[in-house]
Amino acid sequence: MILGKTFSNGSKTLFTQSEIEQRVNELALQITIDYREANLLVVGILKGAFMFFADLIRKINLDLTVDFIAAQSYIKDASSGQVKLLYDPLNDLIGKDVLIVDDIIDTGLTMNKTIELVKKKSPRSLKICALLDKSERRTADVTIDYIGFKIPNRFIVGYGLDYEGRYRNLPDIKVLEDSSKKEDNV
Ligand code: IMP
Ligand code: MG
Repeated sequence: MILGKTFSNGSKTLFTQSEIEQRVNELALQITIDYREANLLVVGILKGAFMFFADLIRKINLDLTVDFIAAQSYIKDASSGQVKLLYDPLNDLIGKDVLIVDDIIDTGLTMNKTIELVKKKSPRSLKICALLDKSERRTADVTIDYIGFKIPNRFIVGYGLDYEGRYRNLPDIKVLEDSSKKEDNV
């Protein structure tokens, strides 16, 4: 893990654009090897995963299909385990090898709920890929098959991740220093 680079706005960069790119390439290569005999459907969780998802699938050298799920988690009420699915286009998954892609797994509640939903549609196989794993905050049991980076318990933004809808366009992943007013995240 690479920590501790200070930028002028005071927030620290956890991972630079090129560090992210290198790790995404490694994950994509592993996925390409693992799924070469498969019928791969890559499912991104909106909104946070959109940037990682777009970079990842471009590096997976296989014939694949894509879809998305939109999930909203309530960070303030994380202990109550509320996750709302706003968009669920997935129908018949029989015969499909589904790889769910998310930006970050924090409490694990969003992913747990998503796995539950996808399993009901009987895919041939189901695996999870997350760019970031904030395992200290985990309350739901989730097995992540492909992890980009393990990170400490900090609120982070950039590369698709937001604070109140902002900072998703930052090319680097940064720590947001004042995370005391976190709102809902989509
Ligand atoms: P969960 O707690 O694992 O259900 O995570 C739910 C969602 O909260 C993630 O998919 C992200 O969209 C968001 N999230 C969790 N931690 C962070 C963070 O540090 N920064 C920005 N979004 C986060
Ligand atoms: Mg998310």
